[in-house]
Amino acid sequence: MKQNNVPVITIDGPSGAGKGTICQMLANRLGWHLLDSGVLYRVLACEALRQQVSLQDAQAVAKLAQNVNIRFVSKDARELARVYLNNADVTDEVRAEATGKLASKISAFPEVRKVLLELQQNFRQMPGLVADGRDMGTVVFVDAAAKVYLTASPETRVKRRRTQLLAQGIDAKLSSLTDELAARDARDSDRAISPMKPADDAITVDTTGLSIEAVFDRVWQIVQHRVDHQGD
Ligand code: C5P
Repeated sequence: MKQNNVPVITIDGPSGAGKGTICQMLANRLGWHLLDSGVLYRVLACEALRQQVSLQDAQAVAKLAQNVNIRFVSKDARELARVYLNNADVTDEVRAEATGKLASKISAFPEVRKVLLELQQNFRQMPGLVADGRDMGTVVFVDAAAKVYLTASPETRVKRRRTQLLAQGIDAKLSSLTDELAARDARDSDRAISPMKPADDAITVDTTGLSIEAVFDRVWQIVQHRVDHQGD
């Protein structure tokens, strides 16, 4: 079977726009696989710290990426998967905002993105894949059946991110989180390779003020419409 016969839905956008929750709901509804691509960059940043590899050394980080052993484990498909690095549960460390910052730094290296590109494309397995990230629709799965770009006001995204962190038992000050997310957004949007932006054929949904259910309904409509009209 040719790999590109496997349907993909891409959901890109900045942190706190609701991608994680929506992707998980979508994957559950469709019974498809889920790729949280941000976790790959996050795990790699953790591994670099563990191995005392300089986060400024693009070649060395890319070399680590070639051998990194990442597994997603979920007992229940509705729960956020736990993340394992070389058989150690690193979920809490991986999801911390400090790790997001380091991930964003190493994600600007073309050498690193090149290694992770293939790893991400290997997640494309039958019956289908829902892919969450920054460049899923623009670079990794350009032939996706449906592409959505989720966004929200900075205030909304910071509040959502804080709620997510609190649910993991991590307290973060609103003011420092605001600065951190703004810095991360700027780095992700301004980098030379695979900057965060909507694909030309993506539909943008502003989730500010919308409930999760309302966002899901909108995304579900887009997905159904795109899948029905594929090839038109
Ligand atoms: O989505 P998440 O917040 O987990 O991503 C962490 C960081 O990883 C992002 O800020 C971004 O720099 C990087 N990333 C990326 N491309 C992706 C997913 C994440 O560059 N497809």
